[in-house]
Amino acid sequence: MKSITLKGSNKLQGSVNVSGSKNAALPCISAALLTKKPVLLRNIPNISDVKMMIAILKDIGVDITYSRKTKEMRINSNDFDSELPKITSTIRGSTLLLGSILAINKEVIFYNFGGCDIGNRPIDIHLKGFRKLGVKSIKNKNKNVLESEKLKANKIKLRFPSVGATENLILIASKATGKTIIKNAAVEPEILDLINMLKKMGVTINCYLKTRQIMIKGMQNLKGVKHKIIPDRIEAGTYIIAGAITKSNIVIKSIISTYLTKFLEIIKKIGIEINVYDNKIHIFGKDNTTLNPIKVETNIYPGFPTDLQPILMTLLTQINGTSIIKENVWKDRFHHVKELKKMGAEITINKNIARIHGHTPLKGTNVICTNIRGGAALLIAAIKAKGESKLLNPKHILRGYENIFFKLKNLGVNLES
Ligand code: EPU
Repeated sequence: MKSITLKGSNKLQGSVNVSGSKNAALPCISAALLTKKPVLLRNIPNISDVKMMIAILKDIGVDITYSRKTKEMRINSNDFDSELPKITSTIRGSTLLLGSILAINKEVIFYNFGGCDIGNRPIDIHLKGFRKLGVKSIKNKNKNVLESEKLKANKIKLRFPSVGATENLILIASKATGKTIIKNAAVEPEILDLINMLKKMGVTINCYLKTRQIMIKGMQNLKGVKHKIIPDRIEAGTYIIAGAITKSNIVIKSIISTYLTKFLEIIKKIGIEINVYDNKIHIFGKDNTTLNPIKVETNIYPGFPTDLQPILMTLLTQINGTSIIKENVWKDRFHHVKELKKMGAEITINKNIARIHGHTPLKGTNVICTNIRGGAALLIAAIKAKGESKLLNPKHILRGYENIFFKLKNLGVNLES
């Protein structure tokens, strides 16, 4: 799909079901490598990042099947190779295979994981944690080799609560003899989902949310497991903003609303009327409601999620006054701003701070998607804009949103793909 065309300015109506979380599915798929027994994962979203992960695992010899209809994935990982294929550079989530492959094969060989346009994506925190658990790194010419003759449990303090590093360290520590403690760990809901899966596989793990500490007692033989992936809180937030910006009356279903607490706090502060239930959210859009500009900064969970920052920014362009967003997680997550400006937005950037001067009417035009969430921000802008927009490179959006164009058509968006 090279582009999608849509005509904006319609009201949305009806309801939308949120799919399984991309960022929970990827580490849980990796966790399946830790056992030789069958693993059944449910609610795996049919998105291109998952398809890439399947291709990588098939390449290294893992027996993996996925049904797009039932969203079930079956994994039997008896033996697999330690060398990851070069395509891993195109999906950052594949870094999450390092911990599991090392834990089982005592080595992993990989090419550099590419950066991406939300900023530099180093893995120094992962590597430092691995070293604490007895992993040695050997630099080859163009390959990286990690070896772990004997894993030893240890205490590890992360310099920053990296989501991926916390997940990789939980995965490897699940097979290390003894008690590993990760301090200053990330505690995103997706990490808790991984922990729940590993607990069902027999690993003893305690996660202390307030102190950000995770204790893992590794074990040799992990059990097979059936596990259902949690709903995608970022997808839920994206549809909430689609409803809010179009002043529509819609229901977002199949969610866990407690995972959206900070986001919903901001949405209410802006003045959007919502009813929050445990597993659904009802938005009551009204044409005459006055919305308030806000100041918000992204942060690690339970702070405002960076992945919803670009999408919130689109909404803020439609509110009178100046709103301010400070991006604290990624160095360079404002690539969508140039494209939003083409549609009429007035935004100024100074380092990691964006000032959004509203309200500016949005007009349909051709825009280019360069990453998942930036792409979603442009899609929401096009839904609001007057006239026709063409989104080029929509493949970025499909990396993280299951059936999004179909779901939006069902809500009444006038869209051709
Ligand atoms: N960082 C380092 N060194 C490391 C690891 C991270 O400096 O070794 C820095 C990063 O450069 C970044 C910050 O720490 O500035 C946060 O990175 P983190 O490791 O927490 O992110 P990640 O694990 O690579 C996951 C999600 C991202 C999400 C971030 C933050 C997955 C597959 N990806 O990435 O999701 O933005 O956590 O919540 O779980 C997305 O879905 O669009 C997306 C980018």
